[in-house]
Amino acid sequence: MPKVDDVYRAALKQAAQHEIEGSDVRYLLMVAEGFSSPADVIYYRDREMKNPDLFDKWMKERIEGRPVQYITHYASFLLHNLYVDERVLIPRPETEFLVSEITERISDYFDPRNLLMVADIGTGSGAIARALSTFFPKWIIFASDISKGALEVARKNLEGTHVELLEGDTLEPFIKKGLKLDILVANPPYVLSKEEAEPIVRDNEPDRALYFQDSNNVYEKIFKDIHEVKKGPMFLAFEIGPGIEEMLISCMNKYLGKHTYEIVKDNLGLSRYLFVDLE
Ligand SMILES: C[S@@+](CC[C@H](N)C(=O)[O-])C[C@H]1O[C@@H](n2cnc3c(N)ncnc32)[C@H](O)[C@@H]1O
Repeated sequence: MPKVDDVYRAALKQAAQHEIEGSDVRYLLMVAEGFSSPADVIYYRDREMKNPDLFDKWMKERIEGRPVQYITHYASFLLHNLYVDERVLIPRPETEFLVSEITERISDYFDPRNLLMVADIGTGSGAIARALSTFFPKWIIFASDISKGALEVARKNLEGTHVELLEGDTLEPFIKKGLKLDILVANPPYVLSKEEAEPIVRDNEPDRALYFQDSNNVYEKIFKDIHEVKKGPMFLAFEIGPGIEEMLISCMNKYLGKHTYEIVKDNLGLSRYLFVDLE
């Protein structure tokens, strides 16, 4: 069997010819060889390859333009290893930051050790709900999506948790069930145009998860119906994209009543998160 290092170096050369990042090569090698981190590719470089054929097959798929997470059906999110496929968005580091911000901010609103009613709208792979259920085991979490396929993936990733899955448009399933919430989290589709997305994203990830549409403005739908699911003061946390701030502010003023909000920017100065304190 060839050594890990020989396969790695040859694959890096091949990747460079196709403008593929070295990090993708390490990712595929990590999963193919059962390593626990991409750095293990260097650490165990003198080992013989266990699965060279699988790695070759995966490299071909990556060269054909498939993201490594869909090829391996593996994505990591905070402490979790998630199953992913083309039915869901690949969970992003930005969304890990959203969850971290929630854990840091929540004590300003509630005692996080209490039984709190929480919604993750547009759960996709279930990443946010999965992480929150680990960090806050007492929370009663509902994760919803409009896509049946996404809910099938979320079900796999939420096995062993108490998260309840709901199918439907935005708050409709919550209103139907008469659920009243303390916290609402959402990472809705917010990319303004297909041209904005990188080709590997545009060609592989679901349109319904990515692109903002006037006819499916998930933020507006949430603000419009929020009073139907509100128990008392509420904390709302959203991932957002640049270019929609004005729309968000005007929708909040139109529908929310008494509230304060904060828009948090990333280190490039782009608006990336919205936190709302709803009285
Ligand atoms: C950007 S993805 C977020 C996925 C996941 N929460 C994450 O952060 O990785 C948006 C998700 O919202 C779902 N979605 C889009 N429109 C929706 C709607 N009107 N009601 C409920 N879910 C919706 C999509 O199917 C998709 O799974």
